[in-house]
Amino acid sequence: MNNDAVARAAELLRAGELVAIPTETVYGLGADASNPAAVAKIFAAKGRPADHPLIVHIPDATHLDRWAREVPEEARLLAAAFWPGPLTMILKRQPDVPDAVTGGQDTVGLRIPNHPLALELLREFDGGIAAPSANRFGRISPTTAQHVRDDLGGAVAMVLDGGPCQIGIESTIVDLTGRRAVILRPGMLSAAEIGRVLGRAPLAADDPLAPPAVRASGTLEAHYAPRTPLVLMPDDSLPIALRNAIVQKERVAVLAIHPAPFEMPGVTWHVAPPDPAGFAHELYARLRELDALGCDRIYVQKPVGQPWQAIYDRLKRAAAGSGEG
Ligand code: TXA
Ligand code: MG
Repeated sequence: MNNDAVARAAELLRAGELVAIPTETVYGLGADASNPAAVAKIFAAKGRPADHPLIVHIPDATHLDRWAREVPEEARLLAAAFWPGPLTMILKRQPDVPDAVTGGQDTVGLRIPNHPLALELLREFDGGIAAPSANRFGRISPTTAQHVRDDLGGAVAMVLDGGPCQIGIESTIVDLTGRRAVILRPGMLSAAEIGRVLGRAPLAADDPLAPPAVRASGTLEAHYAPRTPLVLMPDDSLPIALRNAIVQKERVAVLAIHPAPFEMPGVTWHVAPPDPAGFAHELYARLRELDALGCDRIYVQKPVGQPWQAIYDRLKRAAAGSGEG
């Protein structure tokens, strides 16, 4: 059954069609990375600006040199430690990588996803699959096949259903084209874990020593946004904010890691897992559900501390971009 689906997906990719693929982070909107016409369909389907580069997913690390003209020792170390896994590496590209994939930049993003179906498909296809998250530009990334059908159903030839994504938020992106590794987008694979393998800590993108940021839509100020205005609330401010909302007769949804402290009319309260891995796994599905309630506002308990960094990053962007229709 799966084998048939994988064989069909590979055929569609070879024919220049779009196939949504499961990964351990979020679902990707895949196309043959060596076929510019196929890659162009990704941008049309997502409504994404054409100069935003895509990640190329590869079957194994022997494919690194086909896409990257320089593979520094640091990249080999990270590949050995974390691939397949939620790590995207930015490297200097080979000259024949289509501009459609790189957004015209001299670099390419590469990743081996850790999902059995994705790996099977990549081996069967035996090439690079360019795939951004399979959502419309600026909106919440999909973590189930149904999310993809809801967002992009008509625009893809096939959705390869691999169940809910295990990690639930996008990969960590590390830029290895400069003298120091730079984290362009935090993810559940932490900078500390990367630093341990490299023998020194990577720089944060906003570090004064880091080169000026390249364009990365996952790093735009407003991104990953629901339609309902989303507000990040420190836990100790939540009760007052909610009392005010109730007085104003607003309909409010809450995402927090503890139950409601008192009875609240008009408030839909969702208790999320208290650990970062559990929280990340559910986050996008919960935001979609809470968004669908059509409340006046979604309050999310503001996460604090290093292990929550990637989750905080996504929530901050969701708060900045929410509520604009
Ligand atoms: O977990 C993930 O990374 C998922 C799954 C499907 O692999 N993909 C994903 O793709 O999140 P996307 O396009 O939504 O986000 C990829 C980010 C974008 O912000 C893009 O700008 C950045 O990676 N990126 C890709 N190639 C790049 C490059 N050459 N230089 C800088 N940033 C790059
Ligand atoms: Mg995305």
